[in-house]
Amino acid sequence: MTRFDRAYYKRFYGKDGAHDEQRIAHLATAVHSMCAWWGVDVATVLDVGAGMGMWRDWYNTNHPAITVRSIDVSEHACETWNHELRNIAEWKPRGKYDLVICHSVLQYLDNTSFIKAIENLASATRCVLYLEIPTKWDYENIVDSRGTDLQVYKRSAAWYRKQLQPYFTQVGAGLWTPVDGLPMYQLEASR
Ligand SMILES: C[S@@+](CC[C@H](N)C(=O)[O-])C[C@H]1O[C@@H](n2cnc3c(N)ncnc32)[C@H](O)[C@@H]1O
Repeated sequence: MTRFDRAYYKRFYGKDGAHDEQRIAHLATAVHSMCAWWGVDVATVLDVGAGMGMWRDWYNTNHPAITVRSIDVSEHACETWNHELRNIAEWKPRGKYDLVICHSVLQYLDNTSFIKAIENLASATRCVLYLEIPTKWDYENIVDSRGTDLQVYKRSAAWYRKQLQPYFTQVGAGLWTPVDGLPMYQLEASR
């Protein structure tokens, strides 16, 4: 896949880009702490569409005992940042991972591929999924167009929720748990 080449990462992850190591450190600290709050002792992490590998690197630095597997569909990303070459729309991991991260990836997938990817993510998630996908509304109202790739699928939050609902319960701030997974207080989660 040539779209996610050297120029892509230089353009969207340079100065004023989507996010950087420091911002990922804040987010990863929060996600990992929420897992701990819910009693999840994270031992395995799967990072889907890992890009520059910022999540993997944060885990390796801060929690070296945790096993992190990172995959990406981009040959350039895999060669440069050492991931496995996989397309999440076509690849179902054999095992499960305590925490699955899919950060700003699925807006690149068409509807059919998205539906397959969610099936694969559901199959891979034992406890918690961190999922960020900007919606059509987000692109129109929040996203800074200067540092963001806008050549993506722009779908409604309602459409995304409909696809996720059979597999996941939303617990806020991008976190989802498998249906019938972790017990949550009613006002912690929405279905
Ligand atoms: C916007 S970047 C996000 C990178 C990283 N998750 C982050 O937040 O820093 C999108 C990444 O998703 C990857 N990607 C896109 N489609 C994919 C697919 N079907 N399977 C796996 N990775 C994919 C791209 O190669 C790219 O590295």
